[in-house]
Amino acid sequence: MDLSTSYMGLQLPNPLITAASPLSRELDTVKRLEEAGIAAVVMYSLFEEEIRHSELELAHHLEASADSHNEALGYFPDLGHFHSGPDGYLEQIRKLKQAVAIPVIASLNGVTPGGWTAYAHKMEEAGADAIELNIYSIPTHPDLDAAAVEQMYLEDLTRVRQSVRVPVAVKLSPFFSSLPNMARKLEQAGADGLVLFNRFYQPDLDIENLEVVPEVHLSNSTSLRLSLRWTAILRSVVSRASLAVSTGVHTGRDVIKASMAGADACQLCASLLIHGPDHARGMLETVRQWLSEHEYESLRQLKGSMSLAKVPDPAAFERANYMRALREYR
Ligand SMILES: Cc1cc2nc3c(=O)[nH]c(=O)nc-3n(C[C@H](O)[C@H](O)[C@H](O)COP(=O)(O)O)c2cc1C
Repeated sequence: MDLSTSYMGLQLPNPLITAASPLSRELDTVKRLEEAGIAAVVMYSLFEEEIRHSELELAHHLEASADSHNEALGYFPDLGHFHSGPDGYLEQIRKLKQAVAIPVIASLNGVTPGGWTAYAHKMEEAGADAIELNIYSIPTHPDLDAAAVEQMYLEDLTRVRQSVRVPVAVKLSPFFSSLPNMARKLEQAGADGLVLFNRFYQPDLDIENLEVVPEVHLSNSTSLRLSLRWTAILRSVVSRASLAVSTGVHTGRDVIKASMAGADACQLCASLLIHGPDHARGMLETVRQWLSEHEYESLRQLKGSMSLAKVPDPAAFERANYMRALREYR
C-alpha cells in the first residue's frame, strides 16, 4: 500500500511525523521512532528566551563590570533542567542527523522582532532539513490590535525565510479572527507549510495556594476536531504550502480523517508519549488495512476528498451545521 506523501517538498514514505516535543531529546528514542516507521522528526523548540539568555551571558563574561547584564539575566524565566542553550541545540541536530536517516526538522520558537530568527540559518548549517517556526504570542495588552499581531508573525516569517534555503513551516495558533486570510498571507510571505495547530498551554488555578499552575494536558482523539475542520477549510485556500495536522492524532483512523480533510502530514506527540514509539507501527498498519479494505491503492487517492471544496455539503463545516448540531442535541 502506497502511503507516500510530499511535505514541503520532503518526500516521505508515509505522513507520520514526530511533533516538536521531548521525544527528540534522546537519540535512542528517535532511532526507535524511525524503526517504527516515523517518516520525519520535528525537534523540541529552541526558544527565543534561550537565545537571548545565552547572548546576555556571553556579554556578561566579556564585560566583567556589566551589572546590568546580571540584572537582566535575573528577569529570565527558569529555563528548566532541559536547557542546553543554542549550542547544545545545534549539537543535537548534528547528532540526530548522524543517528537516523529520516529528515530532521528544527523548531524555532519566538515572538518579538530580534536576532533569534538568525538561528534558523545556524540550524540549516547544522544539517536541519527544514525549519518549523512556532510563533507563540499571547497578547495581553488591549492596545495591541489583531493587525499588529499578524504583522509580527509575517515579519518573523520573512526574516527566517530570507535566512535559509530549506523549507520553512509555520506552526499556527487557531486563534485568528480570519484564519484563511492569515494562512494566505503566510503562504505569500514564503511559508512552505502550515502546522495546525500548536497546543496553547492553558494554565490552571490552584485555589488553595493562589498560584497559577503550569500544566500540560495531553490531547486525545476528540482534540483532533479543531485541526480537522480547519485543514478542510484551508486545503483550498493555500495552493503551494503543505498542511500538517498537529493535535489529537492518536490512531490510524485519525490519520485517515486528517488525510481526507486534506493534510499532507500528521504530527504525533501525545499518542507517542502515552503509548511509546512502537505505537506508530500499529497506526500505519491500521491505515494500510483500512485503505485496502476500502479498495484504495494509495493514501494520496483520498487526500482532500472531504475538504471544504470537495464535500457534497460544504455547509457541514460552516454555520448551518452548528445550528443543526445544537438543535438536534438530545
Ligand atoms: C511535553 C510536551 C512538549 C512540547 N514541546 C513543544 C515544543 O518544544 N515546541 C513546539 O512547537 N511544540 C511543543 N509541544 C506541542 C506538540 O508539538 C504538539 O503540537 C501538541 O502536543 C499537539 O499534538 P498532540 O495532540 O499530538 O500532542 C509539546 C507538547 C508536549 C505535550
